[in-house]
Amino acid sequence: MDKTIINDAVEYIRNIFKDDHSGHDHFHTLRVYKMATRIAEHENANLTIVQLAALLHDVDDIKLSPETYTNKDRAVTFLREHNVSEAMIKTICDIIDEVSFRGTDPIVPKSIEGRCVQDADRLDAIGAIGIARAFAYGGSHNRIIHDPEIKPTVYMTADEYQSHVSTTINHFYEKLFQLRDLMNTATAKKIALQREDYMKSYISEFLDEWDGNR
Ligand code: ADP
Ligand code: NI
Repeated sequence: MDKTIINDAVEYIRNIFKDDHSGHDHFHTLRVYKMATRIAEHENANLTIVQLAALLHDVDDIKLSPETYTNKDRAVTFLREHNVSEAMIKTICDIIDEVSFRGTDPIVPKSIEGRCVQDADRLDAIGAIGIARAFAYGGSHNRIIHDPEIKPTVYMTADEYQSHVSTTINHFYEKLFQLRDLMNTATAKKIALQREDYMKSYISEFLDEWDGNR
């Protein structure tokens, strides 16, 4: 496959996400694309599938585009316009379905390509960037930063996770600190370990300041 389709996909997502301020801007997609490529090179995965799935993984997200979510109209339209085979479109759509985290029953993508994209998407939720995205999301959803009275709830079901109202600090315990163990590939596990250490020291500093210990 030539490079044009990847460049076109980059343009496509730039347009779709241009007004997003909830941590899902096009830079998120570009980081996932770059990280997925890096992981895929180590895992000998099919680069075209990984790159297209990474670039299109959020275009039909239920929160951003509920009307196209079920049929993935935006992803499918783009791929058909670029004459991608129906078989490859199906593979890419399956990966897009598999990448989102769903409470306590996360799915492991069946293809190595899907596992690379899922790892890249999850890595973007942790580390320094993950911290920034969590607070951006919290702010845009009117969540408070921290309240010691509201305890984190772990091991929620998918439905509980979707409807649960909590604080942004709790989000670290409810989701972000669980992501390291969910990484599929050795490459992503290594990166996740460093990023988790960084987030843990950030939270520990935050709580020390909160308690007036610093
Ligand atoms: P993606 O679609 O990229 O897999 P999500 O839509 O689940 O991720 O979340 C987008 C970003 O917003 C992530 O960085 C995530 O950690 C953050 N986020 C999601 N839910 C919350 C929440 N309840 N509180 C704070 N941050 C959140
Ligand atoms: Ni994403």
